[in-house]
Amino acid sequence: MGQIKRIGVLTSGGDAPGMNAAVRAVTRTAIYHGYEVIGIKRGYYGLVFNEMERFTTKSVSNIIQQGGTILKTARCKEFTTAEGREKAYENMKSAGIDALVVIGGDGSLSGARTFAEEFDVPIVGLPGTIDNDLGGTDRTIGYDTALNTIVEAVDKIRDTATSHERLFLVEVMGHMAGYLALNGAIASGAEAAIIPEKETEIDQLADLVSRGFRKSKNSAIVLVAENPETGGAMGLAKRIKEEFPEYDARVTILGHLQRGGSPTAADRILASKMGAQAIIALMEGQRNVMIGTKNGELVYIPFSKATTHKQKLDIQGMELVKMLSI
Ligand code: F6P
Repeated sequence: MGQIKRIGVLTSGGDAPGMNAAVRAVTRTAIYHGYEVIGIKRGYYGLVFNEMERFTTKSVSNIIQQGGTILKTARCKEFTTAEGREKAYENMKSAGIDALVVIGGDGSLSGARTFAEEFDVPIVGLPGTIDNDLGGTDRTIGYDTALNTIVEAVDKIRDTATSHERLFLVEVMGHMAGYLALNGAIASGAEAAIIPEKETEIDQLADLVSRGFRKSKNSAIVLVAENPETGGAMGLAKRIKEEFPEYDARVTILGHLQRGGSPTAADRILASKMGAQAIIALMEGQRNVMIGTKNGELVYIPFSKATTHKQKLDIQGMELVKMLSI
């Protein structure tokens, strides 16, 4: 592809608070530098089925504080097929789009990687997911807001847990990564976290029980990372009921609540910086990289690394939770 004049922006996969701030930053930085911007609706679906509109600076007014994504999002099946991507490329060419900024999680950036390789399209990605699980970046857009939502919810659960002297298993999202569960547990003063990165759930459960986690306190809260294979918090509660009937366990699944809400200041700042950098990256001739952050600095991470080398969770935090919950 030749010189870039027109840039398409899309949000894809699970929405994350701060995506709007990122769309705003991408749009305004691009226009500021003389590019045209096309907003692509419903992620890759909008490319495949031609749902796009010209964006002006006004298109992104008053959205920095809004959760969700004004562009809508989807997990587009058609884009996973060669025919779908061919159609997307044809539509992109007809719309005069020379480069893309894709905001999403690992599935969305894997799709971007394949598309870029097949059609030689310049693409820059932004890590937009509450899971914080993309390789090479310390933070993803939406993670901080989701973490704060979890803490607020657990604080409330603590009130009823304490009143009834109960054990609560609070299930959080994470897509097989324990960031939200572990850091949610540290931040809310939970008694334990059960995460996919550490041994099996059974071992972690046995450890909890052997510590007599409810005996010295009048309530206990365990943050459990969602796990479709084991049933997550529901699966654990079933086992607790069968094996340790003395524990009066209750389950709360926070679910999609964690994806909503106005982004925190940290997420707005991260999304604004990353969104602006995506345009700078294209201007510098960068291709097929995700914008990440390492020790406070913005960095470029090849899609190949971002989507295959999951960010490693520091499980030392598990010891911290244990030590601080005595
Ligand atoms: O990747 C974001 C995420 O919220 C994960 O934490 C979760 O596993 C998944 O998306 C849920 O996806 P859906 O909204 O399609 O049910």
